[in-house]
Amino acid sequence: MSRKILVTAALPYANGPIHIGHMLEHIQTDIWTRFQKLRGHQCISVCADDTHGTPIMLRAQKEGISPEELIQKTHAEHKKDFEDFLVAYDNYHTTHSAENKELSEFIYNQLDNKNLIAKRTISQLFDPEKEMFLPDRFVKGECPNCGAEDQYGDNCDVCSATYSPTELKNPKSAVSGATPVLKDSEHFFFKLPEFGNMLKEWTRKDHVQDQIANKLDEWFDAGLEEWDISRDAPYFGFEIPGAPGKYFYVWVDAPIGYMASFKNLCEKTAGLDFDEYWQAGSEAEVHHFIGKDIVYFHTLFWPAMLEGAGFRKPTKVHAHGFLMVNGTKMSKSKGTFIKANTFIKHLNPEYLRYYFMAKLTNRVDDLDLNFEDFVARVNSDLVNKYINIASRTANFISKKFDGKLASGIADHALIKEFESAADTIAEFYENKEFSKAVREIMALAGKANQYVDNEEPWVKIKDDATAGEVHTTSTVALNLFRILTIYLKPVIPAIAESVEAFFNVEALTWNDINRPLEDHVINRFKPMIKRVEQKQIDTMIEESKEDTAQENQPQLADPLKDTIEFGDFDKIDLRIAKIVTAEHVEGADKLLRLELDLGGVVKQVFAGIKSAYQPKDLVGKLTVMVANLAPRKMRFGMSEGMVLAAGPGGKDLWILNPDDGAQPGMRVK
Ligand code: MSP
Ligand code: ZN
Repeated sequence: MSRKILVTAALPYANGPIHIGHMLEHIQTDIWTRFQKLRGHQCISVCADDTHGTPIMLRAQKEGISPEELIQKTHAEHKKDFEDFLVAYDNYHTTHSAENKELSEFIYNQLDNKNLIAKRTISQLFDPEKEMFLPDRFVKGECPNCGAEDQYGDNCDVCSATYSPTELKNPKSAVSGATPVLKDSEHFFFKLPEFGNMLKEWTRKDHVQDQIANKLDEWFDAGLEEWDISRDAPYFGFEIPGAPGKYFYVWVDAPIGYMASFKNLCEKTAGLDFDEYWQAGSEAEVHHFIGKDIVYFHTLFWPAMLEGAGFRKPTKVHAHGFLMVNGTKMSKSKGTFIKANTFIKHLNPEYLRYYFMAKLTNRVDDLDLNFEDFVARVNSDLVNKYINIASRTANFISKKFDGKLASGIADHALIKEFESAADTIAEFYENKEFSKAVREIMALAGKANQYVDNEEPWVKIKDDATAGEVHTTSTVALNLFRILTIYLKPVIPAIAESVEAFFNVEALTWNDINRPLEDHVINRFKPMIKRVEQKQIDTMIEESKEDTAQENQPQLADPLKDTIEFGDFDKIDLRIAKIVTAEHVEGADKLLRLELDLGGVVKQVFAGIKSAYQPKDLVGKLTVMVANLAPRKMRFGMSEGMVLAAGPGGKDLWILNPDDGAQPGMRVK
């Protein structure tokens, strides 16, 4: 029976590049989708960029472009990365789309009409300088638990305490540096608790893995809370209907983006019907592939929203663990935070697809990409076992038998054995027991090689009495290779395509497993893949390290766009100043208190140059000071200007030190 299946992977945020951690998700989604297609089901995979929210808005501001420009640029990059890794979405859309706006408004209105939206005023940290409310990650301060400095507003990296941003000591806005103030605003809430019973039942009906169902029980025990779904302007997203200045929180329209991407595809595809997949009671299947960090959104909020708005709920949410590299978290400094577009420069993406396949289970555990193991695995399985079956037999056919396969091999015991593994392998694929499928397939590959070893065609070919047997042996071996290719096709689609060209056949499908090739002219065998060398890995890791170094470079303003006028510059009153006093400041790690003589007028400045200078070395020196800077109250007193210094920091920081000819108070031009 042919199934109708819609598959999605989590929508990547549009403010960063795709890395191999993301790829773990997209590759497994693609393998599963390709498997379903190969089996003849109508299986459609969609994805999109997740484009809304504060980080994207601020990132665009920092780059001096509009959010629309930013997300457009990223969209093109992400699309290319997926194509490069042979991740073939039927549609790769964006959440900043007409379809998504319409669906988000529709779903919200449905919920609102059913009295599932509550409104109440809450008090949150507000950046008075930027005039915006601050998400938790945009407030930094001292941990209320252990006092560690420079911690985010939601949890502490040092002691792991979690807290609300209002509890931080000395909070600062990470956007402007200003001290946030508390400000009231009305927020909209989705009444999740009303769906408690429905969700409890839903999670126990095989819609999630057992590990996830257990996690959900913990959440149910802790109690479901209403979910804050609105954000105040300025925000990059969709405005809530009937509520000017209020926007949908990005996590509202993000999962709706799955539907929207599908809807956009329906608009472009004759015969594809949105309602058939999404209306309540639909018989079609909807499968979401996601990482373990976003389970809450997909197994609580999302099914509840769908139910509330009168749509069907997902058939299955497939959660996976995180990618580790060489046993630890991906790290920029170690060069293991590898971007998709760096990987592709050095290695065949099908190797990564194969390696992930070989290690994936249907559990929510983390997966370790160990590069030594990667090299060994790819070379021993793909090159030495799988491809080797063809490379050691194909030439006999081309050179001795006019390129034509023998006939009468269909009932060969090994061919039958290979065919009969189909159901087991299919079940492993279906249940995402990918590593078990690989083990099965490679065990077969081992048998095929064993068969060739036993037959010794390279010996038999030399003797006229036995040369004829080589025709059969090679034909059997190549048929085994062909069946293995079908089994592996969802994982290594490009290699499979070369194999199809070699066999001189149309695209292979699952049904071709039982249709052996006999009496058929094939093409000459050309090597299809190369061994991986450790050297390639080393270079890739080195390059990933460089990538980070570049990222850490401050972005110089684009001189064409971000210039200031001479008038702006002229407003800065730079003066020669003589340092008359310099001393340590009690309780400050970085600051020195300076008194600067500007030719009669003395000003006090707190300068962050303690790491580079002893106070006694400064007294009597001349320096350059911004004399007309508005005085600023600091924790230690009033700072009435700024001294100019340059250098990489730490000990290597130099105050500007004009010639002795300069006189305090002189204007610097
Ligand atoms: N935009 C949201 C998802 C919205 S879905 C309606 C988001 N984006 S993300 O870019 O941060 O992550 C996208 C997916 O990649 C998530 O499923 C996440 O778990 C997965 N991964 C991100 N880093 C990962 C690893 N290092 N390893 C495995 N998966 C990882 O969350
Ligand atoms: Zn702490």
